[in-house]
This record gives sequence, structure tokens and C-alpha cells, in this order.
Amino acid sequence: MIKIAILGFGVVGSGTAEVLTENKRVIEERLGCSYSIKYILDLRDFPDSPFGDLVVHDFNTILNDPEVSIVAEMMGGSHPAYDFSRACLEAGKSVVTSNKEVVSNFGVELCRIAAEHGVRYLFEASVGGGIPVIRPMINDLASNRVRTVNGILNGTTNYILTQMRDCGSSFAESLSEAQKLGYAEANPAADVEGIDAARKIVILAALASGKLLSPKSIHTEGITNITLLDTAVADALGYTIKLIGHAEVYDDGVMAMVSPRMVTKANPLANIDGVFNGILITANMVGDVMFYGPGAGKLPTASAVVADIIDIIANRDKAVKPIAWEDAKAEDIKSFDDYVCRRVLICQSAPALPNDVKVLKSCEVNGAVAVVIDTVSEARTSQLLAALGDTVIATYRTLA
Ligand code: HSE
Repeated sequence: MIKIAILGFGVVGSGTAEVLTENKRVIEERLGCSYSIKYILDLRDFPDSPFGDLVVHDFNTILNDPEVSIVAEMMGGSHPAYDFSRACLEAGKSVVTSNKEVVSNFGVELCRIAAEHGVRYLFEASVGGGIPVIRPMINDLASNRVRTVNGILNGTTNYILTQMRDCGSSFAESLSEAQKLGYAEANPAADVEGIDAARKIVILAALASGKLLSPKSIHTEGITNITLLDTAVADALGYTIKLIGHAEVYDDGVMAMVSPRMVTKANPLANIDGVFNGILITANMVGDVMFYGPGAGKLPTASAVVADIIDIIANRDKAVKPIAWEDAKAEDIKSFDDYVCRRVLICQSAPALPNDVKVLKSCEVNGAVAVVIDTVSEARTSQLLAALGDTVIATYRTLA
């Protein structure tokens, strides 16, 4: 009998207990062995929960119990989640997690410690909620070199942007609804400021390149400055605004960033709405592949956590090769200034652009003038924006 402990009985932790219980018979049939949840660690008590009797308050009860071989960490935040995960791995227990903050900052180290102790550290639920994307990237795309990743990686912000666009709801109302639905982070600033998406895109970029960037080091913009004028301009120009995590993998390095973009309506990412996430990967052999599904929420995210538990149980007698990745060094990081794409400039009046800047399209919305300019680098864009000054109300990168 495999004994499992759950760290954190919040949205995803309670969902994990539910999935393990609700689908117990079918999972055990598939595995050919049985399991049970032995402990749930939380600061609170849950007298009304069917799992209430499993709650313990002292992490050492789990750490020192040799019967527990798999620990599911769903505490959120870096500490003590990292410290507990590390202690479990060092004690010879495999760890699965939905915690993208820990994976994006300490994933390489925790995988190394797991390998040193003959156990595993898996994190399918850390990106894309219920969408299978980590394991497919490691296994099913292993014959490829991934070149670019573009993803809608945060359910809360995609829900907010969709509500604002389709229902005219305010930013605050939409965020509050996303919180009620259990999509948002404990501190929703991590969602709306793009930090959660940054953690996720560095994880995907690392699987693609073998180099884990620090999420704090990448260019990150959120959605808090998006206005209804911007939404209307996007619509007039044939775009929809999405918060996009973008990674480019070169033969000798990697670059990742998060920003709102005007996405061409023909791009499949433009049609991913509500809490859904989508990850569009371009690889050198398969071409474009897209992963789509619920990017947040209790049972979808728990479904991915339990997939990792099943993977560990199914392969418990095998030596599974650890992920080939390392923390990115300075020479692995490609300059953000050199990144090029088309830009939309939303201006108070027609902008006086230099002759070498090619305008591809323009429109007027509510007295504002918007132009789409041909590919420019980040460095050149900064020069243009400085020269145009207050004329520019907003600017967006595009995604074709
Ligand atoms: N707050 C996250 C989101 C949860 O909204 O996508 C899933 O990682």
C-alpha cells in the first residue's frame, strides 16, 4: 500500500484529496496497486471535511514517517514549501507539486536532490493547471528542438480580460469573481502583474532549452494598465489583447518575457477565453502544436497533481532519468533589447515617425490614432517612444 501525504489543504490540496478518493478504484486498477492518503498538513482544522481526521499540524509527523513515500506539496509560496520539499526528498520521499514559485526558483536544485536520493520531483500542475504540457514537452517532443513557446499561462488574467471585453465588467469585479472561483493566487498581484505567468514561462523555456532563467530576471508586464480604449483599438485592427508568456530558444541561449499583446484574431491563442490556458509550441520537426484546457481551478489542477502521483507509483521500480536542465548562466541569456516584433502605438494624434519606420496599418478610435509598425527591436522601440513622448498613450507588442 502506497501512503501519500498532502501539504496544504487549500483549493488544490483539497482537490487532490478529492481526485484521489473519487477516482480511487479506476486509478488503482490502472496501477495494479493500492494507495491511501495518510496525512494532510495544514495550520487549520477541518472538522466538517471527510478528510478532517487526516489533518496534522506538525510537518515532522510526515517527514519522520517511513511509510509515507509520496508527498504532494500544494502550500503555495516559497517558504516553507521549498524547505519541506527539500527535506522530504532528502528523506527519500518523492514530491509532486503545483507550486510554480518553488519550481521556477528552485526546480533544478530540487530535481538534483531527488536524483541523488533515488526519488522524483514532478511538477505537471505548475504550468497550465489541468493541461498536460510538462510531461508532453519532456517525453513527446523529445525528438524536437523547441524554437518558440507562446502561452496564455494565467487563468485569472485571461478570465479578467475576457470579462472586460465580452461583458464590459470592470477590472475589480472580474478579479473578485476569479478569486471566488478559486483561480487567483493568495495575493492576486502575482496574477495581474504577470509574475505568475513569468514563473510559468521560465519553466517552459527551461524544458525547451535546458536552462532555467530566474523569473525575476525576465521582462514582465501585467494587465493593470489595459483600458477599454486599448480593447477597442485591438478590435478595430483585427486583434484581441491577451497576456502572453513568450520564449525564444536559440542554439546558444534563451530569452523569455511576459507582456500583454495584441494577438491576430487568426492565431488560435486569440480564441482562448475565460479561465482557459493555451500553449502554442513551435518545434523544428513537428511544427506547431497547441495544448489547451482549464488553466486553474480545484479539480483541473488536482488532476495534474494526481497524474504525477500516478507516474511515480507506476515507475517506482525503475530508474527514471532526471530532466536535463541547469540554472541559466549569464552567457545563456539572450538580450531582450534585440528582440524584434511588430508594434501597435496608440497615440493622441498621428505620430511623427522617422522615415525608416514602416506603418502597416492604422485606425482612429474615440479620437485616438493607432498605428501598426513593422518589426522593430526593443532597443529601437524605446528610442521611438522617448522621441514621441506624451503623444503615445499605450503600446503593445503584436503576435501574428
Ligand atoms: N492563479 C493561477 C492562474 C492559478 O490564475 O492561472 C493557476 O496556476
